[in-house]
Amino acid sequence: MKFTRSILITGGAGFIGSHVVRLFVNKYPEYHIVNLDKLTYAGNLANLTDIEDKPNYTFVKADICDFGLMLDVFKKYEIDNVIHLAAESHVDRSIKDPFTFAQTNVMGTLSLLQAAKELWTAPYTSNRFYHISTDEVYGTLEFDNTFFTEDTKYDPHSPYSASKASSDHFVRAFYDTYGLPTIVTNCSNNYGPYQFPEKLIPLFINNIKHKRSLPVYGKGENVRDWLYVVDHARAIDVIFHKGKIADTYNIGGFNEWKNIDLIKVIIKTVDRLLGSPEGTSDTLITYITDRAGHDLRYAIDSNKLKDELGWEPSLQFEEGIEKTVQWYLDNGEWMDNITSGDYQEYYEKMYNK
Ligand code: NAD
Ligand code: TYD
Repeated sequence: MKFTRSILITGGAGFIGSHVVRLFVNKYPEYHIVNLDKLTYAGNLANLTDIEDKPNYTFVKADICDFGLMLDVFKKYEIDNVIHLAAESHVDRSIKDPFTFAQTNVMGTLSLLQAAKELWTAPYTSNRFYHISTDEVYGTLEFDNTFFTEDTKYDPHSPYSASKASSDHFVRAFYDTYGLPTIVTNCSNNYGPYQFPEKLIPLFINNIKHKRSLPVYGKGENVRDWLYVVDHARAIDVIFHKGKIADTYNIGGFNEWKNIDLIKVIIKTVDRLLGSPEGTSDTLITYITDRAGHDLRYAIDSNKLKDELGWEPSLQFEEGIEKTVQWYLDNGEWMDNITSGDYQEYYEKMYNK
């Protein structure tokens, strides 16, 4: 079959990337989807077993920082579009090892931009370089009624958000300097199936299941804005097809939760679905020293995306969290496979267990 587009999706074996790959492979049999991933600790091909044999899907194991290899991949698969998700993504790891974050998130993005610039030709009518970023580049909000909009000044505080901010600047600079057809989106915290259990929601579900303590930073008062991952993938689909070149869109579901309130919902849901009496796991909550530079509050204003492109989240949070908890409880083997070995050592060191 002759495909109408050849889309490179980077980081497709990770949490969000796997949902984006699944959506595109199933929805667009006329596109060739090339999933390029280094398979770091966060990349897991078990996230994609349901689509791995589809005729429009190819997996390439590679490091985005290897510029020569990126040129080869672009040529070999005649890549005409990029959806770039590959990154180091965990704030706590960035505090311990900022170099890896600069390398992957900044140099890796630059390597992909440069490959696209060298191989695509103006006026780029069938090309698009879509960079997936985070709301964390905007810094932090107070406990007031303000939101991050597309015009909010960048003010990153963690090595993770600083590296993502830097990559966003490079992407926009490639439009300004070379006319490369770029788009950037900044999304709030995602939750849902296939998230690596170093992030709050899967970590806590797994810990409750195993009756392990739940390490809450500071007083648990920080606020995050949570979006179901499939809704993020849907937004990426809409923006990839209808978004304006050189534009930025914020993605979020107007769904703010104070950490401790969210944790109580998770505890209640896990206990109920496991058939334990309400309150069983409340005592697992353990307040620990706050994360360094811990941003107080994130909240995304996604009205531009709604007004211009008609996207809205499809799922209410109550339904999303229920589905998510159920998925992790039903997929114990997936969880056990990634929480053994190296990860266990890392986790024990991280929380001084
Ligand atoms: P993740 O850590 O689950 O997955 C990242 C993927 O990138 C993994 O499969 C990993 O193997 C791959 N990768 C890492 N380094 C690579 C390299 N050098 N070369 C090729 N592949 C490499 O991350 P995620 O949570 O799915 O996030 C995906 C993207 O979305 C990131 O760019 C992140 O900044 C952004 N984002 C995440 C969230 C969130 O809540 N998770 C919110 C907004 C934006
Ligand atoms: P996380 O899932 O790491 O996402 P991010 O730091 O990108 O927002 O953390 C979400 C919130 O939960 C954040 O405020 C930090 C807090 N948190 C804890 O209190 N304990 C934990 O063990 C983790 C992983 C996070």
